[in-house]
Amino acid sequence: MSILKNDLLLRTLRGEKTERTPVWMMRQAGRYLPEYLVLRKQYSFFERCQTPELAAAITLQPVDIVGVDAAILFSDILVVPQAMGLEVQLIESKGPILPDPIKTVKDLIRVRVPNVDETLGYVFDAIKLIKQELNGRVPLIGFAGAPWTILCYMVQGKGSKTFDEAKAFCYMQPELAHQLLQMITDTTIAYLKGQVAAGADTIQLFDSWGGLLSPDDFENISLKYIRQIVAALKDEAPVIVFAKGAWHSLDAMAATGAAGLGIDWCISPKMARQFAGDKVTLQGNFDPAKLLSPIPEIKKEVKAMINAFGRDRYVANLGHGILPNVPVDHARAFVDTVKEESSK
Ligand code: CP3
Repeated sequence: MSILKNDLLLRTLRGEKTERTPVWMMRQAGRYLPEYLVLRKQYSFFERCQTPELAAAITLQPVDIVGVDAAILFSDILVVPQAMGLEVQLIESKGPILPDPIKTVKDLIRVRVPNVDETLGYVFDAIKLIKQELNGRVPLIGFAGAPWTILCYMVQGKGSKTFDEAKAFCYMQPELAHQLLQMITDTTIAYLKGQVAAGADTIQLFDSWGGLLSPDDFENISLKYIRQIVAALKDEAPVIVFAKGAWHSLDAMAATGAAGLGIDWCISPKMARQFAGDKVTLQGNFDPAKLLSPIPEIKKEVKAMINAFGRDRYVANLGHGILPNVPVDHARAFVDTVKEESSK
């Protein structure tokens, strides 16, 4: 295994002081990159995920083109429901569709906790190839969806602003919901351990829909399972928990033993630090839509953001995924400004 030449992200997650702030962008491998769009024309989404050479090429694109301090595996959170036995389609411009979602106890018969080497071995193969091709340039982030966010898609069957059917499932059939959440958790733990064994240097858990739940429901339906995953992984690799909109629980998320907490732009750096305490690294929180502003404006806003977070225990990132219509030079301006300003 090669030694990392740039380990700013890993040192920052461990709470060490670094020469400058590390920077990467959620969903950095994707549709805003012309080089991605070329491969997107030739192969279907899951072909791109399942072919290690394609997943590796896409993973490396933002490292080469935008200069980020970490690579994130090209894959999707929905490969987990797929491995658990559900059909998942990704329809261009429509997003994910699960044609036979989970609604009743009968549907649970179709769901299993799979052998991850058999069902998700292609991800581990991709990670091994990516590590070779990165050759120690930057660390590799592995990831999975948090159980609540995965349940949202398994039950609702498609994207939603409210995930009302997923919530109704939890409120009306709580026993069934908890059974499903535990199955997702067990699969995710085995899957993430496999990612680390294959070479992932750190892990991010995406709870994109955590903020749809009240603080009490977030604890019962989401954080309870996130806690199990962090406990199972944290001695093998630092874990970053990104529960969008769930800022009310930053203290409880810090107490899981996560090394890092992702935050969105709806909370100030100062409040986030107050809630999270000083024993965890914060990551975020640039509004992705602000990358559509003129470059001088982006620079001004990035400087303000990193000065508000300060030098310690901070990873610069967006508050959610990059938008497909962001010009590449705007993404590069974001990354370059973090590098310049935090080295001063
Ligand atoms: O660059 C990276 O961050 C790595 C790859 C990655 C993808 N999806 C690739 C992808 C990651 C980390 C994800 C996570 C993911 N997938 C999340 C959590 C993060 C978030 O944004 O909230 C969620 C909720 C999904 C589910 C998903 N996958 C949706 C809703 C969609 C369609 C809408 C969209 O954002 O594009 C996808 C498809 C998807 N996953 C694309 C990519 C590059 C676009 C596919 C394409 O059209 O080419």
